[in-house]
Amino acid sequence: MKQGRILSGMRPTGRLHLGNYVGALENWVRLQNEGWQNFHMVADWHMLTTGFEDTANLQSDIHDMVLDWLAAGLDPEKSVIFVQSAVKEHAELHLLFSMLVSKARLERIPTLKEQIRDLHLDEQTISYGHLGYSVLQAADILIYKATHVPVGEDQVPHVELTREIARRFNFLYCRDRAPVFPEPEAQLTAFARLRGLDGNRMSKSVGNTILISDPPEEIAAKVRTAYTDPKKIRANDPGRPERDPSDGHGGCVVWEYHRKFNPTEAESIARRCRAGELACVPDKRHLAQVLADALGPIRERRARYAADPDRVREVIADGNSRARAVAARTMEEVRSAMGLSSDAPLHPAASAAGRRSS
Ligand code: TRP
Repeated sequence: MKQGRILSGMRPTGRLHLGNYVGALENWVRLQNEGWQNFHMVADWHMLTTGFEDTANLQSDIHDMVLDWLAAGLDPEKSVIFVQSAVKEHAELHLLFSMLVSKARLERIPTLKEQIRDLHLDEQTISYGHLGYSVLQAADILIYKATHVPVGEDQVPHVELTREIARRFNFLYCRDRAPVFPEPEAQLTAFARLRGLDGNRMSKSVGNTILISDPPEEIAAKVRTAYTDPKKIRANDPGRPERDPSDGHGGCVVWEYHRKFNPTEAESIARRCRAGELACVPDKRHLAQVLADALGPIRERRARYAADPDRVREVIADGNSRARAVAARTMEEVRSAMGLSSDAPLHPAASAAGRRSS
């Protein structure tokens, strides 16, 4: 079965959490096993847009994240796993694309506005590189001619801009030739995002995550702190798994995780909770076991790769060179369409012509 090509990336944040797994990784692995051509990129240049001042942990964060990708089941035989900064062609395409987008268009991108708000940045001092975040992302996607981009809802504006840039490039430079770029589609993950243990958005900086590398004891300790119905105080009080806007109850996090990781039991658990037949303490213990079991194969694969850091470096080096080959080919087409000079010395015919004219 021939599927399309997907490109997706993550900024290197180090060890990944359950939200990264459910929202992205699990989906990547499924697509990989359905026969898509997967490209997965560590977006280290994107990391610099907000984290340029402190790069001390960059390399270990890249290593830890790729370790989690492999642990989750990305197979380097099937998927190209690579690091953005190792494929310099992204920077060249980013520069060329930056001519095709207005500053006003970039300032309207909601993701940028959210970052300005969440990170308390000053709109007046935002860097040139940060403003161009989406342009770089468009280059990441289009340089591999990806047809689909599996991402969360928050990334849709970037994909929309990517489509605009592809269209504009094809319109301007491919009038008398086949279009260079496809217009890629965002492929939204089906599940809603998992909330963090405290019921808020799951985020490493908040500290409300379960990491996919957490050992069972750590999982159990974390689940004990999870948010449940605040009105269920005694063991046999009836509880409310679902949210209840009447008093601001956000919905039981333990129940949310049961639904995701324990779908066969989830309904009966909710029924017993509502009836006052299930206390939170044993229910949390039960969930911790479910999560530890679900993460078991991931933990084992992770341990195998962690014991062999050279193998991980080899996977990345191999991915980098496979990515580079595709990117270099696209850039040749781009330069030719735009009438820019190509890597001519590599072509005997072209260098002969060069000598004649000099
Ligand atoms: N912006 C993405 C994020 O923050 C990371 C990313 C960079 C990406 N380049 C990409 C995602 C290309 C998909 C495709 O999660």
